Amino acid sequence: MKLLIDTDPGIDDAMAILFAARHPEIELVGLTTVFGNVPVEIATRNALALVEHCGLAIPVAQGAGQPLELPPFVPPAHIHGVEGFGHLPAFTPARQAVTESAAEFMTRLAREHPGEITLCPIGPITNIAEAIRLDPEFAGNLKRIVFMGGALDAPGNISPFAEANSYHDPHALEVVLRSQAEILMIGLDVTMRVQLQAADFAALAEAAPHDGGLLDGMAGLYLEFYRSIGQEGCALHDPMAVIACLEPDLFEIERIGLTCIVEGEETGRTLRHAEPAQSAAALDCDAARVRALFLDVISGA
Ligand code: RIB
Ligand code: CA
Repeated sequence: MKLLIDTDPGIDDAMAILFAARHPEIELVGLTTVFGNVPVEIATRNALALVEHCGLAIPVAQGAGQPLELPPFVPPAHIHGVEGFGHLPAFTPARQAVTESAAEFMTRLAREHPGEITLCPIGPITNIAEAIRLDPEFAGNLKRIVFMGGALDAPGNISPFAEANSYHDPHALEVVLRSQAEILMIGLDVTMRVQLQAADFAALAEAAPHDGGLLDGMAGLYLEFYRSIGQEGCALHDPMAVIACLEPDLFEIERIGLTCIVEGEETGRTLRHAEPAQSAAALDCDAARVRALFLDVISGA
């Protein structure tokens, strides 16, 4: 499976990217970056560092630094750290991003590989909306979009109504949901069901010092944040979107139209929408098998 990840790395983004890089059935064809957990410039530096860590020679293209219409946000340094990888210091990757923008890169790739690219946005979905506006054939050229974001029946995590990625660019999500792409939403309805604790990261570091050690180094601050909101473990948000690309049968998926509220108190809230569409949402999952799959791939089992 040819996979393109759009990302705001970010700790759970790093977990998702390592999973994709290590899974034998995934051909990670590139990363595009977006604002969110960190400013887009740091997201790009971190994406380049992760590609280098994984020993991959794949392109990284920088994307949007702010939402389509909303004013810029202050990144959540208390969750992912100022540099995006918890307490770890800033990385200094050797390579640079390509000169194309994220939207230019992903539209070209989809045009060159029609029907083959699975696009997995795991940050605010701004770049994908910009790509849809840049190339009217982009949505049809993709195999499908599987995004981490939204919440249908579960409460929000950045407001009582909204999940963080949809909150950070509701206008972009609405553009994507109204496109003709085949879309699967992996939201808080399922991602809050799978959590990792400190002992899991320590075990990963023991089993796979290179990859597990990196994630264990990042996890400290992330777990401190979750403890501060009364949760002993961190949710597997972004890795579950990648896992859903690969193993949709681990999820209970409902084909429904979807929409995103773009203003007012419920900005970023995702709702079922009467209009039939090519969209679907995961409402439940086999949490034990999702968790085991992630740990097995990262530990190299
Ligand atoms: O709500 C979780 C999402 O917001 C994840 O993608 C996490 O990385 C943050 O971007
Ligand atoms: Ca993310």
